[in-house]
Amino acid sequence: MDALKRWLKGLFRPSAKWSIAALVALGVSIGVVGVVTFEVGMAYTNTEEFCTGCHLQPGATAETYHLSSHYNNRTGVRPICSDCHVPHEFGPKMWRKIIAAKEVWSHLMGNLETTEKYLQRVVHMREREINRLKANDSQECRNCHEVERWILALQTEKAQQFHQSMKNNNKTCIDCHQGMVHMSDMVAEVVNAAEQ
Ligand code: HEC
Ligand code: HEC
Ligand code: HEC
Ligand code: HEC
Repeated sequence: MDALKRWLKGLFRPSAKWSIAALVALGVSIGVVGVVTFEVGMAYTNTEEFCTGCHLQPGATAETYHLSSHYNNRTGVRPICSDCHVPHEFGPKMWRKIIAAKEVWSHLMGNLETTEKYLQRVVHMREREINRLKANDSQECRNCHEVERWILALQTEKAQQFHQSMKNNNKTCIDCHQGMVHMSDMVAEVVNAAEQ
């Protein structure tokens, strides 16, 4: 007990050698706990489970993803939600996580409570995500599909034509590949109606 008291006293006596060491140790421990908590939080909020916890309206986002060719395919490589929607780079990733606070608020307001409510918002949600990808030259697609490495000759003729022209007319992936993951007849109806 005495030793502990002495140690604690020492902790508050900055001039003593021991207390500085203790402070450094304490600082390092807090730092380590902080970093671990941060990393675990970042990793968890990137899981499919976390995203589908909210995007689960029948017939909507998670369900359409489960029907898409990025979920079920020949090779078994499966991008999850965050692969396409959350940047890898530190700055943009942090910004996306901060923006996500708005999603939590919107969720609490019940804005995506039902499929009907999802359909009321889907046009704007799509638009925001498409614009985000246009602005960053479809960076999240390019994290997997490296244009410098793909072999055009192995692609379908149609794909070759369009991909060849992509360089000249300043188009990016999302300009042509929309509705690839979350489209359904239900969504198409709403999107087409909004476009008219
Ligand atoms: C707490 C619930 C919740 C979680 C968890 C959640 N979202 Fe959302 N998300 C929402 C709500 C609600 C909206 C609708 C925002 C609005 O329009 O007001 C939304 C909108 C979106 C949009 C549309 C684009 C935009 O800017 O509005 C995308 C893309 C999206 N979420 C992706 C994700 C991904 C990826 C994850 C997992 C990393 C995720 N969400 C986790 C509730 C959530
Ligand atoms: C985590 C990696 C990953 C990410 C991120 C990713 N893809 Fe893919 N994509 C793949 C793989 C792997 C395949 C091949 C699947 C197969 O075996 O058919 C594929 C297939 C495709 C195909 C052809 C199959 C089809 O459905 O027509 C297109 C087009 C495509 N991706 C476009 C995109 C676009 C656009 C984005 C960004 C919004 C994107 N991908 C993001 C890995 C990814
Ligand atoms: C100018 C329009 C256009 C742009 C831009 C574009 N694509 Fe495509 N892409 C197409 C078309 C059209 C096809 C053929 C679809 C089909 O066969 O039905 C295709 C096919 C593909 C395929 C399948 C190839 C195959 O042989 O099966 C992949 C993968 C793909 N695109 C990925 C991308 C990625 C990643 C980007 C951005 C780096 C991109 N595309 C940009 C139009 C485009
Ligand atoms: C292969 C890339 C890819 C994956 C994987 C993916 N998305 Fe998307 N998502 C997109 C693109 C691209 C858009 C823009 C609209 C479009 O093209 O249909 C989009 C649109 C959305 C939207 C706007 C509303 C809607 O339904 O279109 C939400 C919300 C969303 N995604 C959430 C998710 C969640 C949650 C997951 C995982 C369950 C997921 N996405 C998986 C590429 C992806």
